[in-house]
Amino acid sequence: MNARQAGLGGAAVRAFDLERIRADFPILQQQVHGKPLVYLDNAASSQMPQPVIDRLVRYQTTQHANIHRGVHTLSALATAEYEAARHKLQGFLNAAEAREVIFTSGTTESINLVMHGWGRKFVRRDDEIILTTLEHHANIVPWQMLAEETGAKIRVVPMLDTGELCLDAYEKLFNARTRIVGVTHVSNALGSINPVKGMIATAHAHGVPVLVDGAQAVPHMPVDVQDLDCDFYAFSGHKLCGPTGIGVLYGKAALLEVMQPFKGGGDMILSVSFERTVYNAIPHKFEAGTPPIAAAIGLGAAVDYLGAIGLAAIARHEHELLQHATELLGRLPGVRLVGTARHKAAVLSFMLDGVHPHDVGTLLDKEGIAVRTGHHCAQPLMTRLKLPATVRASFAFYNSLAEVDALVAGVRSVQKVFS
Ligand SMILES: Cc1ncc(COP(=O)(O)O)c(C=O)c1O
Repeated sequence: MNARQAGLGGAAVRAFDLERIRADFPILQQQVHGKPLVYLDNAASSQMPQPVIDRLVRYQTTQHANIHRGVHTLSALATAEYEAARHKLQGFLNAAEAREVIFTSGTTESINLVMHGWGRKFVRRDDEIILTTLEHHANIVPWQMLAEETGAKIRVVPMLDTGELCLDAYEKLFNARTRIVGVTHVSNALGSINPVKGMIATAHAHGVPVLVDGAQAVPHMPVDVQDLDCDFYAFSGHKLCGPTGIGVLYGKAALLEVMQPFKGGGDMILSVSFERTVYNAIPHKFEAGTPPIAAAIGLGAAVDYLGAIGLAAIARHEHELLQHATELLGRLPGVRLVGTARHKAAVLSFMLDGVHPHDVGTLLDKEGIAVRTGHHCAQPLMTRLKLPATVRASFAFYNSLAEVDALVAGVRSVQKVFS
């Protein structure tokens, strides 16, 4: 864990004061269907605190111009703020260098960037790509597209019924044709925290790089890419109290340097003629065109905000929420928890006997409680579990134990409707 994330340095540390934290989130202060909003769909997208909103307003009202190109004052200011955001993200991940942080539109684009930039250069017919049963479609479909194009094969790490990966089977998947591993740090559907550090060490022992999908990890726990020794790490701003349309791909500089650019256009070049283009250095080689400048600056403000609370304190509070919810829902007759891994982040998937998850979600919404129902963009996982869908409550640090109680009361009232 790096000092900034633990709340030990950088931004001033705040005590974990839930009331004060909740007051920072204007959207949480409203009612839905006449009931106080209980927002438990944080794995899909989290909410934005006032300091991040304020930062976006300040940028738009006083600092906006296009970056990296203008000689005028506003352009220089916007460029400095955009690059300062990159440095904040470097600190957040403890990346060795700021040029290892590439701004993308989100996790999906980050993974597609690696598929196009690294995969299309280094993966050939009969090569193998290792993925896991727990992957989100964003870390499956791009690799399938690559496999279709090249004739490579996808190998899948199996999973126990608890939602934990079979690590013995993982080790046995490696052979001379293995080219890359893609693994989610935290399962969006079940909350399982995968032992990615050990999985990376195993892959490296075979000379294979690893891409970690960190979309569901960075909002909940300190992540240190140097400690993990991952080759690529992808996540989205909107799950991290930041804006939509922004995300990050962290990549080790040595790998990013040999990769093909993903998109061509302005800003990613040093020189262009009709005969030949010389690409810019990293990270700019991967940031063609005008980037989402405001969103990147907003994401910088979001990691400042989280850093001031401290990811370790956030993880502690969310663990309490998860334990409380697991205990209460787990002992309700007619409720089946889905995903009981020993190490879990703040995601609770469940089924109610005799009630379709969509009906549960619709009735909970009438109580002001927002949960997600469906396959959670993890259809191969649902197939493995033999379930069409689950109800998923996903917590953030601004949720309270009282909101967990409201969820449990809501579930009981759904059961009454169907009894
Ligand atoms: C584990 C995981 N990976 C990838 C994604 C895709 O993120 P985005 O839609 O922000 O690109 C999600 C979104 O839910 C996710 O949970």
